Amino acid sequence: MAQIPLLIANWKMYGNRSTNQQLLAKIKVCINSSHAKIPVSVVILPPAIFLEQTTSLLKGSTIAWGAQNMASEEKGAYTGEIAGAMLKDFGCRYVLLGHSERRQHFGETDVQIARKFALAKQLGLTPILCVGESLADYQAKKTMKVIQQQLQVVITSFGFSAFQNTILAYEPIWAIGTGLSATPETAQTVCSQIRQWLTQGDHSLADKLAILYGGSIKPENAKSLFSMPDIDGGLVGAASLDAQAFLKIYEALPKSFTKPVSNLKIESD
Ligand code: 13P
Repeated sequence: MAQIPLLIANWKMYGNRSTNQQLLAKIKVCINSSHAKIPVSVVILPPAIFLEQTTSLLKGSTIAWGAQNMASEEKGAYTGEIAGAMLKDFGCRYVLLGHSERRQHFGETDVQIARKFALAKQLGLTPILCVGESLADYQAKKTMKVIQQQLQVVITSFGFSAFQNTILAYEPIWAIGTGLSATPETAQTVCSQIRQWLTQGDHSLADKLAILYGGSIKPENAKSLFSMPDIDGGLVGAASLDAQAFLKIYEALPKSFTKPVSNLKIESD
């Protein structure tokens, strides 16, 4: 098991077969050839309709892939939904859950997210659980209160051990797609407070938990964000659609990583 940082690309609802092909070709060549020097676990989350294409383009590379969402039910008459088992069938190892855009635009509740979380774990998918506060909550200094509520639903249902083999992503809503990133200090403070708060349940698990930052990560701010001791990598939206920008962000990750991310089943090659 390697102890390496993570870089996750959330393509959201962008791309087509031709642009995906070009983007993946560029990043694959570069990441495969520098993997020995920059041991990072890179994960691509394309729109689900492009999973087949992603699978065939990334097979055999050092890059993993996953989905941006999954159904809260195992199977059945749920028109338009995609089951976790279907994601597994397409070689997904990760699934993003609780992204603020799903909470905001599709009314996903903490309870539904906790259900998806449990199903993902049952299936052996690694959940990337997103938490984060609105601008109003940030200004009212309620960041940790909001995040604790978002995490508590999972803890109440499944206990602290639920976070074994899980990735947390702190994504302040006010920083997503706005160009306004949290400062490295703010992001560090929140990631560290999340870790501290989780130590009450399981000290060693909290210590090893991979906590990422997401929200307007760009080549210009990546290095300072990734140098923070409680930030174990990034969840990148817009900049992950541009090969050059994404590769610069990748290169900004620390070359030697001493923080333990050992609760993740990441195989190094
Ligand atoms: P941006 O990087 O476009 O701000 O998006 C962040 C995000 O939502 C990743 O999940």
